[in-house]
Amino acid sequence: PDGRPLAGRRAVVTAGPTFEPIDPVRGLTNRSSGKQGYAIAQALADLGARVTLISGPVALSAPIGVDRVPVETAREMKAAVEAALPADIAVMSAAVADWRVDGVASGKLKKAPGGPPSLALIENPDILASVSAPGKSRPKLVIGFAAETSDLEANARAKLSRKGCDWIVGNDVSDDVFGADGNTVTLFTRDAGDESWPRQSKTEVARKLAARIADHFKA
Ligand code: C5P
Repeated sequence: PDGRPLAGRRAVVTAGPTFEPIDPVRGLTNRSSGKQGYAIAQALADLGARVTLISGPVALSAPIGVDRVPVETAREMKAAVEAALPADIAVMSAAVADWRVDGVASGKLKKAPGGPPSLALIENPDILASVSAPGKSRPKLVIGFAAETSDLEANARAKLSRKGCDWIVGNDVSDDVFGADGNTVTLFTRDAGDESWPRQSKTEVARKLAARIADHFKA
């Protein structure tokens, strides 16, 4: 028998950026290496969870023992998350583009004497908010991320109630975070207090978060 703390649990993790096409060769995207999300997927699998990792385009190989589903757009990511439910745990670490281009050009847009084209943007679905919505397929523990350059606590607490998730991993991105191996994180929970973790590697942050998740299910 598998005595690991998350054996028998299912987890869905989103990671990396999304890519929203403008035309066949261009797009809008976000800065995200995917490192933190991939490390979380790995750490959950190491504790025995069955992990589906829904990943935007990144330059990382799939963690061992994790089922990776590659996607590009926010809408593809949302569909892949829904297909991976039900799950006990959802960790939404992806940097999802807030907008996509309305009316993607079927051919490459050309430079023209009339000046640059204008792009009409429309809002993407909020995957974290929809996964957090009450219902029978809502995971028991839904965790979101808040990357902020200031007012981390106020922004993270506001996000907790606006999105309806259970925990928020607050990320101070004024520090060197994008693409780096280290991360400075505060965990905000709905029922318990906050926990600030000193700057440590993304692997350590992931192990610590996975251990907190395991404690939550043990309690
Ligand atoms: O609203 P904001 O983008 O700052 O919230 C960040 C959190 O919400 C992250 O957990 C991110 O993965 C998630 N998110 C999402 N779908 C969106 C936007 C953000 O799942 N469209």
